[in-house]
Amino acid sequence: MKAIIAKQPGGAEQLQITERPSPIPNGKELLIKVEAVGVNRLDVIKRESNTDHLEQPILGVEVAGVVEKSNPNSNIDKGTRVMGLVSGGAYAEYALIPSDRAMVIPDNLSYEQAAAIPEVFLTAYQTLFWLGNLQEDETVLIHAGGSGVGTAAIQLAKQLKGANVIITAGTTEKLNTAKTLGASYCINYKEQAFDQEVLQATDDRGVDLILDFIGASYWEKNLASLSVDGRWVLIGTLGGSTVEQVSLTELMTKRIQLTGTLLTPRNDQYKAKLATEFIAETSKLFKNNQLKPVIDRVFNFDQMSQAHEYMEENKNIGKIIVKL
Ligand SMILES: NC(=O)c1ccc[n+]([C@@H]2O[C@H](COP(=O)([O-])OP(=O)(O)OC[C@H]3O[C@@H](n4cnc5c(N)ncnc54)[C@H](OP(=O)(O)O)[C@@H]3O)[C@@H](O)[C@H]2O)c1
Repeated sequence: MKAIIAKQPGGAEQLQITERPSPIPNGKELLIKVEAVGVNRLDVIKRESNTDHLEQPILGVEVAGVVEKSNPNSNIDKGTRVMGLVSGGAYAEYALIPSDRAMVIPDNLSYEQAAAIPEVFLTAYQTLFWLGNLQEDETVLIHAGGSGVGTAAIQLAKQLKGANVIITAGTTEKLNTAKTLGASYCINYKEQAFDQEVLQATDDRGVDLILDFIGASYWEKNLASLSVDGRWVLIGTLGGSTVEQVSLTELMTKRIQLTGTLLTPRNDQYKAKLATEFIAETSKLFKNNQLKPVIDRVFNFDQMSQAHEYMEENKNIGKIIVKL
């Protein structure tokens, strides 16, 4: 089968299509004929990594496709359209997924749309509700509001909890998209001090929850933006991972709960439980278009390098998809 690997750790030019044997499913996996894959920041990190690309040479963590081979323990039959997170190996004509983690694609969605769901919607669902404990009518600050995870999180916070959503993003286009998805207050972090804007929008109270993809460069402003007893879920470090001169006093006085997480290293049971709960809570909302996968661009399989470069230029609003 055709598959994409990084020849050497490095830039997008290192990506190449190569021939690999098709994977063979064990008794708990489904073999999927891949129709579309999502591009993720993690793929970029793995492409650059000296060690990861040797462990799992075929890149990619999410797929949408059709079941080519099922197993006797699964209630998902051959021919079913499925989407989900895979443990590497998505950038290929065939991929394996543990059957209890595969999600049946709602009928109204194409493969490209389905490939835009697993990584960003599951991350957003897990961080908003399992880790962030977002409650009805609370206020959440979602950074990178035009990102894949950001566009998913805005919709989930709004549609599942009726939350008040404040976002930050770096372009007017991204702010406008966030507004159409349900954000009520949108801040251009390049032009405005977001902490001051957040305090103004919340009558100086601050927000109940922050989804933070940025990390170090937002540390001070995040502290200032949180309410007393606020929760802060760290999901990414796009703005750096080392904070100089941390004062812990404000964390204590505001009784802030700070949690970090990475979805990919979580174990199989966790991912299966997350996928099962997510699809139970959301498939109706995808069917009636209350939730929508947000796709910026669809590239062809032989354009994977361009797809990676596009992500690294921070141009995308929502997901970058590659179709096979
Ligand atoms: N922890 C987990 O389990 C998990 C899972 C999935 C993703 N993630 C992380 O979540 C983040 C978002 O992923 P994604 O795929 O949704 O990303 P994406 O679609 O590529 O969007 C990222 C956006 O973040 C903004 N950004 C980049 N650098 C920034 C900086 N220094 N300061 C402020 N904003 C910056 C840019 O938009 P602007 O134009 O607004 O600047 C960029 O387009 C990534 O860090 C990713 O690694 C974590």
